[in-house]
Amino acid sequence: MGYRIAVVGATGNVGREMLNILAERGFPADEIVALASRKSLGTEVSYGDTTLKTKDLDTFDFDGFDMALFAIGSDATKTYAPKAAKAGCVVIDNSSLYRYDQDVPLIVPECNPQSIHDYAKKNIIANPNCSTAQMVVALKPLHDRAKIKRVVVSTYQSVSGAGKEGIDELWDQTKSIYNPVDNKPPTKFTKQIAFNVIPHIDVFMDDGSTKEEWKMVAETKKILDTSIKVQATCVRVPVFVGHSESVNIEFEDFLDEDEARDILREAPGIMVVDKREDGGYVTPVECVGDFATFISRIRQDSTVENGISLWCVSDNLRKGAALNAVQIAELLGREVLKKG
Ligand SMILES: NC(=O)c1ccc[n+]([C@@H]2O[C@H](COP(=O)([O-])OP(=O)(O)OC[C@H]3O[C@@H](n4cnc5c(N)ncnc54)[C@H](OP(=O)(O)O)[C@@H]3O)[C@@H](O)[C@H]2O)c1
Repeated sequence: MGYRIAVVGATGNVGREMLNILAERGFPADEIVALASRKSLGTEVSYGDTTLKTKDLDTFDFDGFDMALFAIGSDATKTYAPKAAKAGCVVIDNSSLYRYDQDVPLIVPECNPQSIHDYAKKNIIANPNCSTAQMVVALKPLHDRAKIKRVVVSTYQSVSGAGKEGIDELWDQTKSIYNPVDNKPPTKFTKQIAFNVIPHIDVFMDDGSTKEEWKMVAETKKILDTSIKVQATCVRVPVFVGHSESVNIEFEDFLDEDEARDILREAPGIMVVDKREDGGYVTPVECVGDFATFISRIRQDSTVENGISLWCVSDNLRKGAALNAVQIAELLGREVLKKG
């Protein structure tokens, strides 16, 4: 007997990827139902070789469903996740709503799989922010070896991290640069994103950082270790899919760059592509559709006592959202529900 799974937000960027990945990984599902808002009722979405017709989340009954993979905004999640959880269906949520709730585990399976057993307090498990997910996959094996003290990260985040509207805005603006008749002012982003970069994601906080930056700090501490200090600068770039990060890591103990490379080569979820020659590194367009977090440009940082710098790239719709959610579902199945 397999699982009954609801994919919530199935018409969105992350929802569609969750359906793709459930099919690609042969998740043991007896039934998959695709849910979205009423306006999408009947919209067809792909699940492997089959097509599902989207149902209305508002009238859906979660009773009898084992897991619901949520990928809708925080406001709608606040309304519907508790309903699903109360019906006995474990919610795996991509929004930021529950990530900092002490009664909700925040899980990256390569880093803290043991937290899965905390799911029952609310019947909800949180998925991290896309930028955090790929970074902690890279940090975890290095932290285990040399204990990380401080991380300085600058992100280069694709527009798909801002949902369907983010993709549309980059596409429309890029076309309008060549055909100014169609010129439209920015709506999703705060400034022109085509042929530009914007050092601002999510709202500003009192200390001058942005909420996206704060999320990287808080989530890294919750997933890996509360003692790790993180300084983040999050930047939106005109790339459709794939987030990149320049990461400077300061350790308690010395870690040689060759040993760091070997550790990362052996670590789960990581692919090291690191040749010191033209093209010997990964860029976002090359990581689209892949499961791995790619690490390149591993080198000693001689400006601190024990430092390593690296370049980290991953498909934000996959490891940053849909893949991590499906991995959590697999973990929950394997460790707790044990069906299929
Ligand atoms: N994109 C990323 O890299 C990423 C990474 C990590 C986390 N997340 C989070 O994942 C969630 C989804 O992101 P996304 O990029 O997939 O957004 P998206 O492409 O804009 O899709 C949003 C989805 O939510 C559905 N939805 C919105 N309001 C709803 C409501 N009131 N009732 C039912 N369904 C509703 C939409 O359905 P309709 O089509 O019917 O409107 C659509 O399926 C967000 O919370 C986001 O912060 C995204």
